[in-house]
Parts: sequence; C-alpha cells; structure tokens
Amino acid sequence: MMSHKSHSTSTHMPQKQSKNAIASVKRTRHRQSEMWHRQFNIARLAVRVVVTICLTLGVLGILGSTAPVSHAQETTTLNANVYHSPDCNCCGGWMDHLKAQGFKIKDILTVDIDAVKQKYKVPDNLTSCHTAIVDGYVIEGHVPANDIKRLLQQKPNVVGLSVPNMPVGTPGMEMGNKKDPYTVFSFDSKSKVAAFNKYSAS
Ligand code: CU
Ligand code: CU
Repeated sequence: MMSHKSHSTSTHMPQKQSKNAIASVKRTRHRQSEMWHRQFNIARLAVRVVVTICLTLGVLGILGSTAPVSHAQETTTLNANVYHSPDCNCCGGWMDHLKAQGFKIKDILTVDIDAVKQKYKVPDNLTSCHTAIVDGYVIEGHVPANDIKRLLQQKPNVVGLSVPNMPVGTPGMEMGNKKDPYTVFSFDSKSKVAAFNKYSAS
C-alpha cells in the first residue's frame, strides 16, 4: 500500500514539482555545504587561537626563563659587606655613596682590619682604609660604585679592585672641589696588578 502510493506519486508527479524537489535538494546541499564551511572556519579559527596561545606562552616562557636571571643578578650582586675600624669616618662616606648607587650595605666593624686584608689577599701596596666583599670580589678602599658595577658586569678573572691609600676626591673623600688624579687597580690571586680605570684631577 505504501509502496504503491509512493510509486503513484512519483510517476504522476508534475514536472514543476520535480524541478522544485531538485531545487530543494540543491538548496539543502548548498545549506549543508555552507554549514560545513562555517564549521570548517570555526575549526580553523580554533586551531589558530590554540597556535597563537601556544606561541605566546612559548615566547613568555623564553622571556620568563631569562628575566629572573638578570633580576637575580641585580639583587645578589649589589650586596656589599664592608669591614672597617670603628673610628673610620671616610668609610661611612663611601658606604653612603654605595647606598645612593643602589647597594645594600652590611656594616661590619673590626678592630683588626689588617687581618681582613690578609684574609682576602689584598696586596700590601694596594691597601686602604676599608675592605668590602661584593659578589665574591674584594673591593679595597674608595672605589667608585660605577667601577664595581662594571666589574660585576664583566666578571674578569681577578680577586678584586682597589684604590690604594685615600686620594682626595674619591667617593667618601670629598674635600670641596679638590680632586687628586687616581687609578682604580685590579689584582688577581698572584697579586698581578693592572689599571681598571683612571680618573684625572680637576
Ligand atoms: Cu677612607
Ligand atoms: Cu674606608
């Protein structure tokens, strides 16, 4: 009965109706293909979003892995342990200079500063009033903060830096506008001495 009916409808279907049916099928196919295109575009967009997120996270990861290193350098290398005798005034002036340049000072008083210089292998001819330890380097005397910063950036194979004696015009040894010419020396474990920086008189 059902088959007969469907047979009779198909055989007696007017041409216009059949054309409409074809158009309808075409429309359905078109709609399906449109939908498929839309889904494909959504999928493509999703892939692009995921790729962008991955790339961003990757870049952030690279930045993140390098950023803390420089930050750690900033915080660890600017600590200065300063040994000096209790009656040294110019030592305080030098520590104030370092503080103003971003150093964190640990002020250590000692009655036997010579023992400290021997312990840290400061050559006899390079000694001054105070001895400081900054990031493993020995800083003897009124060395300007900028020279210490350059030392920490370049990290040469030396024991440390020194401004021997106490030249006038060095940080902590200011006397008006008067300035002695002076040299910042580096020294290594074999007491080999070299000029690290030079300052002229004014
Ligand atoms: Cu001094
Ligand atoms: Cu000093």
